[in-house]
Amino acid sequence: MYLPQLLKRIESGEKLAMLTCYDASFARVLTAAGVDILLVGDSLGMTIQGHASTLPVTQPDMQYHTAAVRRGAGESAFVIADMSFGSYQESPAQAFGNAARLLAAGANMVKLEGGEVMIETVAYLTQRGIPVCAHLGLLPQSVNLTGYRTQARDSKAAQRLIKDAAELEASGASLLVLESIPALLAAEVTGCLRIPTIGIGAGADCAGQVLVLNDLLGLTDKPPRFARNFLQDNGNIAAAVADYVAAVKSGQIPGPEHSF
Ligand code: KIV
Repeated sequence: MYLPQLLKRIESGEKLAMLTCYDASFARVLTAAGVDILLVGDSLGMTIQGHASTLPVTQPDMQYHTAAVRRGAGESAFVIADMSFGSYQESPAQAFGNAARLLAAGANMVKLEGGEVMIETVAYLTQRGIPVCAHLGLLPQSVNLTGYRTQARDSKAAQRLIKDAAELEASGASLLVLESIPALLAAEVTGCLRIPTIGIGAGADCAGQVLVLNDLLGLTDKPPRFARNFLQDNGNIAAAVADYVAAVKSGQIPGPEHSF
C-alpha cells in the first residue's frame, strides 16, 4: 500500500491502528487482523534484543527486521521503519543514505525523532522521495537527557511542541507520532495540523493510536500506564490483535486511565 491510500482511510474518518512488529510471523498475523500500519520500532532493542533502551540498535538491525516484516506482511501492508540512534542525526545526507536502505529493505516510510533540529533533514528526505513520520513528546533516543517521563507538561514546553509540529508538517512530514504528552496538548496539536497524529500515551483525540506489540500481549514486566493487555481477554494472539484494532477504530481506547 502507498501513502495516498493510507491517508484516504483517515479522510473517511477512520482512526488508524498501528502496532509495532519485528518479524515475519507476527507481520502475517497483524496484517490479517487489520492493523493499518506495522511499525518496525527500534523498541526492538528492548523487546527482541533485551537491552535497557533503544540506543544500541543499529542500522543493519533495522534493515534486517524491516525485511523480515515486509516478507511476512506482503506487499499490501503499510510498513514504517524507525531510523536507529546515530543513523540520521549527523546530516541530511547521512539520513538519506540510511533511510534509502530501509526503503530498499521494504519500508514505505521512515520514522525519526526530534523537532526543530530535524526540520532540514525531513525536508531533504521528503524532497527526494522518502516519506517521513516525525516523532515528538517523549523521545526514547533522548532518554539520557529526559528519562522516561511525560513531556511538555508546562506551557513553555507545550508551545515549543506545537511550533515543532507545525514546522515538521511544513517541511514535508506525512505523519506525526506523539508519545507521552498531556491529552489536551495532543488534541490541540491534532487540531492545528493537516497531517494525521498517531498517539501513544497522548489521549483519545489523535487520528490514530500505536502500541508496542509486547505490551499488548502482556509480555512486558512493567508495562507503561497507556498499555493494555489484550491477550488476557482474548486467549489467542490473532483475536487479541483484532480486538485492539476494533478498540482503536471505535474509540474505546485509550480511556482516561491510559492518558495524562
Ligand atoms: O520504537 C517504538 O516502538 C516506537 C513507538 C513507541 C511509537 O517508536
